[in-house]
Amino acid sequence: MIDMLDTYNRNINYLRISVTDRCNLRCRYCMPEEGISKLDHREILSLEDIVRSVKVAAGVGIRKIRLTGGEPLVRKDIARLIGFISEVPEIDDIAMTTNGVLFADMAEQLKAAGLDRVNFSMDTMVSEKFRYISRRDHLADVRKAIFKALELGLEPVKINTVVIRGFNDDELLDFADLAFDFPLHIRFIEFMPIGDLLFWKKDRMITSEQIKEKIEQRYELTPTKLVKGSGPARYFKLAGGRGTIGFITPMSHKFCSECNRLRMTADGKLRGCLYDKREIDLKKALQSKPSDEDLKQLFIEAILLKPYEHHMDAGWGKDNPRKMSQIGG
Ligand code: GTP
Ligand code: 5AD
Ligand code: SF4
Repeated sequence: MIDMLDTYNRNINYLRISVTDRCNLRCRYCMPEEGISKLDHREILSLEDIVRSVKVAAGVGIRKIRLTGGEPLVRKDIARLIGFISEVPEIDDIAMTTNGVLFADMAEQLKAAGLDRVNFSMDTMVSEKFRYISRRDHLADVRKAIFKALELGLEPVKINTVVIRGFNDDELLDFADLAFDFPLHIRFIEFMPIGDLLFWKKDRMITSEQIKEKIEQRYELTPTKLVKGSGPARYFKLAGGRGTIGFITPMSHKFCSECNRLRMTADGKLRGCLYDKREIDLKKALQSKPSDEDLKQLFIEAILLKPYEHHMDAGWGKDNPRKMSQIGG
Protein backbone atom coordinates (compact mmCIF):
# COMPACT_ATOMS: atom_id res chain seq x y z
CA MET A 1 0.00 0.00 0.00
CA ILE A 2 1.37 3.39 -0.93
CA ASP A 3 1.28 6.75 0.85
CA MET A 4 0.70 9.77 -1.35
CA LEU A 5 2.42 13.01 -0.36
CA ASP A 6 1.40 16.34 -1.82
CA THR A 7 3.67 19.23 -2.76
CA TYR A 8 3.82 20.32 0.89
CA ASN A 9 4.66 16.87 2.24
CA ARG A 10 1.17 16.18 3.56
CA ASN A 11 -0.04 12.60 3.44
CA ILE A 12 -3.36 12.58 1.57
CA ASN A 13 -5.36 9.58 2.80
CA TYR A 14 -8.90 10.94 3.29
CA LEU A 15 -11.46 11.36 0.49
CA ARG A 16 -14.69 13.25 1.15
CA ILE A 17 -17.32 12.35 -1.40
CA SER A 18 -20.39 14.53 -1.90
CA VAL A 19 -22.96 12.07 -3.23
CA THR A 20 -25.68 14.64 -3.94
CA ASP A 21 -26.10 18.41 -3.82
CA ARG A 22 -29.71 18.04 -2.67
CA CYS A 23 -30.83 18.52 0.88
CA ASN A 24 -34.01 18.13 2.90
CA LEU A 25 -33.15 21.13 5.10
CA ARG A 26 -32.52 24.76 4.14
CA CYS A 27 -30.01 25.98 6.68
CA ARG A 28 -29.75 29.73 6.43
CA TYR A 29 -25.96 29.78 6.31
CA CYS A 30 -25.93 27.22 3.52
CA MET A 31 -28.71 27.97 1.04
CA PRO A 32 -31.76 30.13 0.39
CA GLU A 33 -35.35 28.89 0.94
CA GLU A 34 -35.77 27.99 -2.72
CA GLY A 35 -32.65 25.81 -2.58
CA ILE A 36 -29.86 26.11 -5.08
CA SER A 37 -30.04 25.01 -8.68
CA LYS A 38 -29.97 21.27 -8.38
CA LEU A 39 -28.00 19.01 -10.63
CA ASP A 40 -29.83 16.77 -13.02
CA HIS A 41 -29.26 13.09 -12.25
CA ARG A 42 -27.22 12.73 -15.46
CA GLU A 43 -24.78 15.29 -14.13
CA ILE A 44 -24.04 13.50 -10.88
CA LEU A 45 -21.69 10.57 -10.66
CA SER A 46 -23.35 7.17 -10.90
CA LEU A 47 -22.91 4.57 -8.21
CA GLU A 48 -20.58 2.61 -10.50
CA ASP A 49 -18.46 5.69 -11.20
CA ILE A 50 -18.13 6.50 -7.50
CA VAL A 51 -17.13 2.94 -6.65
CA ARG A 52 -14.60 2.84 -9.45
CA SER A 53 -13.18 6.18 -8.30
CA VAL A 54 -12.83 4.91 -4.75
CA LYS A 55 -10.88 1.88 -5.99
CA VAL A 56 -8.57 4.10 -8.02
CA ALA A 57 -8.19 6.51 -5.07
CA ALA A 58 -7.28 3.56 -2.83
CA GLY A 59 -4.42 2.92 -5.24
CA VAL A 60 -3.01 6.37 -4.55
CA GLY A 61 -3.16 6.14 -0.77
CA ILE A 62 -6.78 6.91 0.19
CA ARG A 63 -7.75 4.89 3.29
CA LYS A 64 -10.72 6.83 4.68
CA ILE A 65 -13.94 7.71 2.96
CA ARG A 66 -16.54 10.17 4.18
CA LEU A 67 -19.88 10.43 2.41
CA THR A 68 -21.38 13.90 2.52
CA GLY A 69 -23.82 15.98 0.51
CA GLY A 70 -25.98 18.01 0.36
CA GLU A 71 -27.60 15.40 2.50
CA PRO A 72 -26.17 11.96 1.66
CA LEU A 73 -29.25 10.07 2.86
CA VAL A 74 -31.49 11.60 0.20
CA ARG A 75 -29.51 9.65 -2.38
CA LYS A 76 -31.49 6.46 -2.99
CA ASP A 77 -28.65 4.00 -3.51
CA ILE A 78 -26.60 5.14 -0.51
CA ALA A 79 -26.64 1.81 1.38
CA ARG A 80 -25.61 -0.07 -1.77
CA LEU A 81 -22.80 2.43 -2.26
CA ILE A 82 -21.55 1.82 1.28
CA GLY A 83 -21.73 -1.91 0.62
CA PHE A 84 -19.53 -1.62 -2.46
CA ILE A 85 -17.03 0.69 -0.78
CA SER A 86 -16.72 -1.66 2.17
CA GLU A 87 -15.48 -4.32 -0.23
CA VAL A 88 -12.46 -2.23 -1.21
CA PRO A 89 -9.69 -3.78 0.91
CA GLU A 90 -7.55 -0.67 1.39
CA ILE A 91 -10.42 1.38 2.85
CA ASP A 92 -10.37 1.03 6.63
CA ASP A 93 -12.93 3.67 7.63
CA ILE A 94 -16.28 4.57 6.05
CA ALA A 95 -17.97 7.53 7.70
CA MET A 96 -20.85 9.84 6.90
CA THR A 97 -21.76 13.45 7.69
CA THR A 98 -25.54 13.82 7.78
CA ASN A 99 -28.21 16.13 9.13
CA GLY A 100 -29.80 13.02 10.63
CA VAL A 101 -33.36 13.67 9.46
CA LEU A 102 -33.69 10.34 7.63
CA PHE A 103 -31.14 8.42 9.62
CA ALA A 104 -33.06 6.57 12.36
CA ASP A 105 -35.11 4.44 9.97
CA MET A 106 -32.13 3.66 7.76
CA ALA A 107 -29.56 3.11 10.50
CA GLU A 108 -29.63 -0.68 10.65
CA GLN A 109 -29.40 -1.00 6.90
CA LEU A 110 -26.47 1.44 6.75
CA LYS A 111 -24.59 -0.35 9.49
CA ALA A 112 -25.16 -3.73 7.89
CA ALA A 113 -23.80 -2.34 4.62
CA GLY A 114 -20.55 -1.37 6.34
CA LEU A 115 -20.90 2.17 7.68
CA ASP A 116 -18.40 2.55 10.52
CA ARG A 117 -19.41 5.86 12.06
CA VAL A 118 -21.43 8.98 11.59
CA ASN A 119 -21.23 12.73 12.31
CA PHE A 120 -24.51 14.58 12.78
CA SER A 121 -25.06 18.28 12.22
CA MET A 122 -27.09 19.83 15.01
CA ASP A 123 -26.72 23.54 15.69
CA THR A 124 -29.39 23.92 18.36
CA MET A 125 -31.38 21.82 20.81
CA VAL A 126 -34.36 24.20 20.87
CA SER A 127 -37.18 23.31 18.45
CA GLU A 128 -38.12 26.89 17.48
CA LYS A 129 -34.50 27.75 16.83
CA PHE A 130 -34.04 24.59 14.78
CA ARG A 131 -37.06 25.59 12.71
CA TYR A 132 -35.59 29.04 12.25
CA ILE A 133 -32.08 28.02 11.22
CA SER A 134 -33.03 25.05 9.01
CA ARG A 135 -36.45 26.36 7.89
CA ARG A 136 -37.83 22.88 8.62
CA ASP A 137 -39.26 21.14 11.68
CA HIS A 138 -37.04 18.12 12.25
CA LEU A 139 -35.20 18.47 15.54
CA ALA A 140 -37.00 15.46 17.03
CA ASP A 141 -35.83 13.29 14.10
CA VAL A 142 -32.25 14.44 14.56
CA ARG A 143 -32.30 13.63 18.29
CA LYS A 144 -33.76 10.23 17.53
CA ALA A 145 -31.02 9.63 14.96
CA ILE A 146 -28.23 10.49 17.39
CA PHE A 147 -29.50 8.06 20.01
CA LYS A 148 -30.09 5.38 17.40
CA ALA A 149 -26.45 5.66 16.32
CA LEU A 150 -25.35 5.25 19.95
CA GLU A 151 -27.65 2.27 20.39
CA LEU A 152 -26.15 0.58 17.33
CA GLY A 153 -22.60 1.29 18.48
CA LEU A 154 -21.72 3.33 15.38
CA GLU A 155 -19.06 5.01 17.47
CA PRO A 156 -17.67 7.51 17.97
CA VAL A 157 -20.89 9.47 17.44
CA LYS A 158 -20.03 13.11 16.75
CA ILE A 159 -22.17 16.19 16.56
CA ASN A 160 -21.19 19.21 14.47
CA THR A 161 -22.39 22.50 15.87
CA VAL A 162 -21.65 25.66 13.92
CA VAL A 163 -21.46 28.40 16.55
CA ILE A 164 -23.23 31.60 15.54
CA ARG A 165 -23.31 34.64 17.79
CA GLY A 166 -26.84 35.69 18.67
CA PHE A 167 -28.22 32.34 17.55
CA ASN A 168 -26.82 29.47 19.61
CA ASP A 169 -24.06 30.96 21.77
CA ASP A 170 -26.48 30.79 24.70
CA GLU A 171 -26.58 26.98 24.36
CA LEU A 172 -22.87 26.19 24.64
CA LEU A 173 -23.16 24.88 28.20
CA ASP A 174 -26.22 22.83 27.24
CA PHE A 175 -24.18 21.14 24.51
CA ALA A 176 -21.35 20.54 27.00
CA ASP A 177 -23.92 18.98 29.38
CA LEU A 178 -24.96 16.64 26.57
CA ALA A 179 -21.35 15.52 26.16
CA PHE A 180 -21.09 15.09 29.92
CA ASP A 181 -24.18 12.92 30.15
CA PHE A 182 -23.74 10.78 27.02
CA PRO A 183 -20.79 9.28 25.12
CA LEU A 184 -21.15 11.95 22.43
CA HIS A 185 -18.46 14.14 20.89
CA ILE A 186 -19.71 17.67 20.36
CA ARG A 187 -17.57 19.61 17.88
CA PHE A 188 -17.96 23.37 17.86
CA ILE A 189 -17.17 24.70 14.40
CA GLU A 190 -16.16 28.29 13.74
CA PHE A 191 -18.57 29.90 11.32
CA MET A 192 -16.90 30.19 7.89
CA PRO A 193 -17.73 32.61 5.06
CA ILE A 194 -18.97 29.83 2.80
CA GLY A 195 -22.42 29.11 1.44
CA ASP A 196 -25.18 31.65 1.66
CA LEU A 197 -23.10 34.69 2.48
CA LEU A 198 -26.22 36.68 3.13
CA PHE A 199 -26.17 35.06 6.55
CA TRP A 200 -22.44 35.12 7.31
CA LYS A 201 -21.18 38.19 9.13
CA LYS A 202 -17.83 38.63 10.75
CA ASP A 203 -19.35 39.51 14.10
CA ARG A 204 -21.47 36.34 14.06
CA MET A 205 -18.26 34.30 14.21
CA ILE A 206 -17.09 33.22 17.65
CA THR A 207 -13.61 31.80 18.10
CA SER A 208 -12.92 28.50 19.78
CA GLU A 209 -11.02 30.30 22.56
CA GLN A 210 -14.16 32.23 23.42
CA ILE A 211 -16.26 29.05 23.35
CA LYS A 212 -13.75 27.20 25.50
CA GLU A 213 -13.70 29.96 28.10
CA LYS A 214 -17.44 29.75 28.39
CA ILE A 215 -17.41 25.97 28.85
CA GLU A 216 -14.68 26.17 31.44
CA GLN A 217 -17.09 28.11 33.61
CA ARG A 218 -18.72 24.73 34.31
CA TYR A 219 -16.26 22.02 33.30
CA GLU A 220 -12.61 21.22 33.70
CA LEU A 221 -11.25 20.37 30.23
CA THR A 222 -8.24 18.20 29.46
CA PRO A 223 -6.96 17.55 25.94
CA THR A 224 -7.39 14.03 24.61
CA LYS A 225 -6.31 12.28 21.44
CA LEU A 226 -8.50 9.25 22.04
CA VAL A 227 -11.39 10.16 19.72
CA LYS A 228 -11.13 8.26 16.46
CA GLY A 229 -11.24 10.55 13.43
CA SER A 230 -9.50 11.84 10.34
CA GLY A 231 -10.44 15.48 10.52
CA PRO A 232 -9.09 18.64 12.07
CA ALA A 233 -10.95 18.69 15.42
CA ARG A 234 -9.05 18.96 18.71
CA TYR A 235 -10.82 17.20 21.57
CA PHE A 236 -11.14 17.72 25.32
CA LYS A 237 -12.50 15.46 28.06
CA LEU A 238 -14.90 16.92 30.57
CA ALA A 239 -13.84 15.83 34.05
CA GLY A 240 -16.15 12.99 35.10
CA GLY A 241 -18.11 13.09 31.83
CA ARG A 242 -18.83 10.36 29.28
CA GLY A 243 -18.17 12.22 26.02
CA THR A 244 -15.88 15.00 24.83
CA ILE A 245 -16.07 18.40 23.26
CA GLY A 246 -14.00 19.33 20.26
CA PHE A 247 -13.09 22.42 18.31
CA ILE A 248 -12.80 22.90 14.57
CA THR A 249 -11.01 26.17 14.00
CA PRO A 250 -10.77 27.04 10.30
CA MET A 251 -10.88 30.75 11.12
CA SER A 252 -8.81 31.32 14.27
CA HIS A 253 -6.22 28.54 13.76
CA LYS A 254 -5.90 27.17 10.28
CA PHE A 255 -5.20 23.46 10.25
CA CYS A 256 -4.10 23.42 6.62
CA SER A 257 -0.52 22.38 7.35
CA GLU A 258 -1.89 19.04 8.54
CA CYS A 259 -4.58 18.72 5.91
CA ASN A 260 -4.95 15.13 4.74
CA ARG A 261 -7.96 15.39 2.41
CA LEU A 262 -9.21 15.49 -1.10
CA ARG A 263 -12.81 16.15 -2.11
CA MET A 264 -15.07 14.81 -4.81
CA THR A 265 -18.11 16.91 -5.71
CA ALA A 266 -21.46 15.38 -6.63
CA ASP A 267 -20.85 16.27 -10.28
CA GLY A 268 -17.53 14.49 -10.28
CA LYS A 269 -14.92 17.20 -9.83
CA LEU A 270 -11.86 16.59 -7.66
CA ARG A 271 -10.99 19.47 -5.39
CA GLY A 272 -7.95 19.81 -3.19
CA CYS A 273 -9.46 22.33 -0.85
CA LEU A 274 -12.78 23.71 0.31
CA TYR A 275 -11.49 27.13 -0.58
CA ASP A 276 -9.59 26.60 -3.80
CA LYS A 277 -11.60 26.93 -7.01
CA ARG A 278 -9.33 24.77 -9.12
CA GLU A 279 -10.84 21.39 -9.93
CA ILE A 280 -10.05 18.28 -11.93
CA ASP A 281 -12.93 17.03 -14.07
CA LEU A 282 -13.21 13.34 -13.27
CA LYS A 283 -16.76 13.08 -14.63
CA LYS A 284 -15.72 14.24 -18.08
CA ALA A 285 -12.84 11.77 -18.09
CA LEU A 286 -15.14 8.94 -17.01
CA GLN A 287 -17.30 9.56 -20.07
CA SER A 288 -14.43 8.74 -22.42
CA LYS A 289 -13.84 5.17 -21.20
CA PRO A 290 -10.55 5.81 -19.41
CA SER A 291 -8.20 3.13 -18.11
CA ASP A 292 -7.65 2.89 -14.36
CA GLU A 293 -4.20 4.32 -14.98
CA ASP A 294 -5.74 7.40 -16.67
CA LEU A 295 -7.99 7.94 -13.66
CA LYS A 296 -5.11 7.41 -11.28
CA GLN A 297 -3.23 10.22 -13.00
CA LEU A 298 -6.19 12.55 -12.43
CA PHE A 299 -6.19 11.77 -8.70
CA ILE A 300 -2.45 12.42 -8.55
CA GLU A 301 -2.95 15.68 -10.43
CA ALA A 302 -5.66 16.76 -7.97
CA ILE A 303 -3.47 15.92 -4.98
CA LEU A 304 -0.58 17.87 -6.41
CA LEU A 305 -2.88 20.83 -7.04
CA LYS A 306 -3.72 21.16 -3.35
CA PRO A 307 -2.88 24.66 -2.15
CA TYR A 308 -0.83 25.24 0.96
CA GLU A 309 -3.69 26.90 2.81
CA HIS A 310 -6.98 28.73 2.54
CA HIS A 311 -7.52 32.48 2.65
CA MET A 312 -11.07 32.64 3.93
CA ASP A 313 -10.05 35.44 6.27
CA ALA A 314 -9.49 37.51 3.12
CA GLY A 315 -13.20 37.42 2.34
CA TRP A 316 -13.67 34.22 0.40
CA GLY A 317 -17.04 33.32 -0.96
CA LYS A 318 -18.04 36.28 -3.04
CA ASP A 319 -16.44 34.97 -6.19
CA ASN A 320 -16.77 31.28 -5.46
CA PRO A 321 -19.10 29.52 -7.85
CA ARG A 322 -19.74 26.63 -5.47
CA LYS A 323 -21.71 26.44 -2.26
CA MET A 324 -20.98 24.22 0.75
CA SER A 325 -23.70 21.74 -0.25
CA GLN A 326 -21.98 21.25 -3.59
CA ILE A 327 -18.49 20.76 -2.19
CA GLY A 328 -19.56 18.58 0.72
CA GLY A 329 -18.24 20.48 3.74
P1 GTP B 1 -13.71 13.03 11.43
O1 GTP B 1 -12.73 13.82 12.21
O2 GTP B 1 -13.05 11.92 10.68
O3 GTP B 1 -14.85 12.53 12.23
O4 GTP B 1 -14.35 13.93 10.28
P2 GTP B 1 -14.35 15.45 9.86
O5 GTP B 1 -14.33 16.32 11.05
O6 GTP B 1 -13.32 15.62 8.83
O7 GTP B 1 -15.76 15.50 9.11
P3 GTP B 1 -17.01 16.44 9.12
O8 GTP B 1 -17.65 16.31 7.81
O9 GTP B 1 -17.89 16.13 10.27
O10 GTP B 1 -16.37 17.87 9.23
C1 GTP B 1 -16.83 18.81 10.09
C2 GTP B 1 -16.70 20.20 9.55
O11 GTP B 1 -15.39 20.65 9.69
C3 GTP B 1 -16.93 20.36 8.07
O12 GTP B 1 -18.22 20.30 7.72
C4 GTP B 1 -16.35 21.73 7.87
O13 GTP B 1 -17.19 22.71 8.42
C5 GTP B 1 -15.12 21.58 8.70
N1 GTP B 1 -14.05 21.05 7.87
C6 GTP B 1 -13.79 19.74 7.61
N2 GTP B 1 -12.74 19.62 6.79
C7 GTP B 1 -12.34 20.88 6.52
C8 GTP B 1 -11.30 21.41 5.72
O14 GTP B 1 -10.54 20.72 5.09
N3 GTP B 1 -11.19 22.75 5.69
C9 GTP B 1 -11.99 23.55 6.38
N4 GTP B 1 -11.77 24.86 6.29
N5 GTP B 1 -13.00 23.09 7.13
C10 GTP B 1 -13.17 21.77 7.21
N1 5AD C 1 -19.22 27.35 8.51
C1 5AD C 1 -18.92 26.27 9.28
N2 5AD C 1 -19.46 25.05 9.11
C2 5AD C 1 -20.37 24.93 8.14
N3 5AD C 1 -21.11 23.87 7.74
C3 5AD C 1 -21.86 24.26 6.69
N4 5AD C 1 -21.65 25.56 6.40
C4 5AD C 1 -20.73 26.01 7.30
C5 5AD C 1 -20.12 27.26 7.52
N5 5AD C 1 -20.40 28.33 6.77
C6 5AD C 1 -21.08 22.56 8.37
C7 5AD C 1 -22.45 21.99 8.68
C8 5AD C 1 -22.20 20.53 8.72
C9 5AD C 1 -21.01 20.34 7.85
C10 5AD C 1 -21.27 19.50 6.64
O1 5AD C 1 -20.59 21.63 7.46
O2 5AD C 1 -22.99 22.41 9.88
O3 5AD C 1 -21.94 20.04 10.01
FE1 SF4 D 1 -7.28 21.65 3.71
FE2 SF4 D 1 -8.19 23.71 2.35
FE3 SF4 D 1 -9.44 22.86 4.55
FE4 SF4 D 1 -7.08 24.14 4.63
S1 SF4 D 1 -9.05 24.94 3.97
S2 SF4 D 1 -7.66 22.34 5.79
S3 SF4 D 1 -6.09 23.30 2.80
S4 SF4 D 1 -9.18 21.76 2.65
